[in-house]
Amino acid sequence: MFKRYADDQVVRGIMRYFSNEKENEKMQALDIGCGCGRHAKVCLEMGMHVKAVDIEEQNIVDTKMLLNEYLNKKLQVECADFLNMNETNAYDLIVAWNFLYAYNDKPEDCTDRLKKIVTMLKGGGKVIMSLKSDEDSWKTSGVKRGGGSGVIDNPLYDAPGYVFYSQDEMVDAISECGLAIDYFEKFSRTYAMDWKNLSSNEEWKSKKLDVNEVWYAICATKK
Ligand SMILES: C[S@@+](CC[C@H](N)C(=O)[O-])C[C@H]1O[C@@H](n2cnc3c(N)ncnc32)[C@H](O)[C@@H]1O
Repeated sequence: MFKRYADDQVVRGIMRYFSNEKENEKMQALDIGCGCGRHAKVCLEMGMHVKAVDIEEQNIVDTKMLLNEYLNKKLQVECADFLNMNETNAYDLIVAWNFLYAYNDKPEDCTDRLKKIVTMLKGGGKVIMSLKSDEDSWKTSGVKRGGGSGVIDNPLYDAPGYVFYSQDEMVDAISECGLAIDYFEKFSRTYAMDWKNLSSNEEWKSKKLDVNEVWYAICATKK
């Protein structure tokens, strides 16, 4: 099963803005591209009603298994393409974690999907999402798609179509989509893709670890 435990940036965002469990009983959350449901779980544990959506049937099976106790009570799970969802002004919180920066054919696809999220939020509703920084090493080591499109395919993961933002670009893009940023943090993870090789001849002592993934964790409110 795909990662079971929630990322701390998502947990912190939810705890920061949705800490009142009594109030949360009235809240409707959506987890888009829910994977195994690890972030839907946090929303449920904090008292919210949740819809978890993923395009892959296996992820829906995994989410149902993980969150069986909530199913058809506070939780709805749907195998669907988010782009075909047509709810508007429906959600108090949307979690779009490790979702928007991938699966893009053109750079604008990322902001078009974010604009769709904004239409799905109620006025004053919040989105918790991650985007990739242009400092991320996949930007240079990934395979560029098309001429000058700004979309990169990652040869190692089955999540093609990455887009990357500088901090200024990220702030502008979010504002243009109709959101006010409440809070963001930049976080990174540096690791060796081929640790066994690096360690066999102690090359790691003189060589930089080769992958430095850099993300923004963002919480923003519909204006
Ligand atoms: C990198 S995974 C992240 C999963 C989850 N948010 C998490 O953090 O564990 C991205 C997920 O988005 C799903 N996905 C991709 N395109 C989608 C779409 N158009 N509609 C719904 N889900 C989609 C994939 O199947 C995958 O489970």
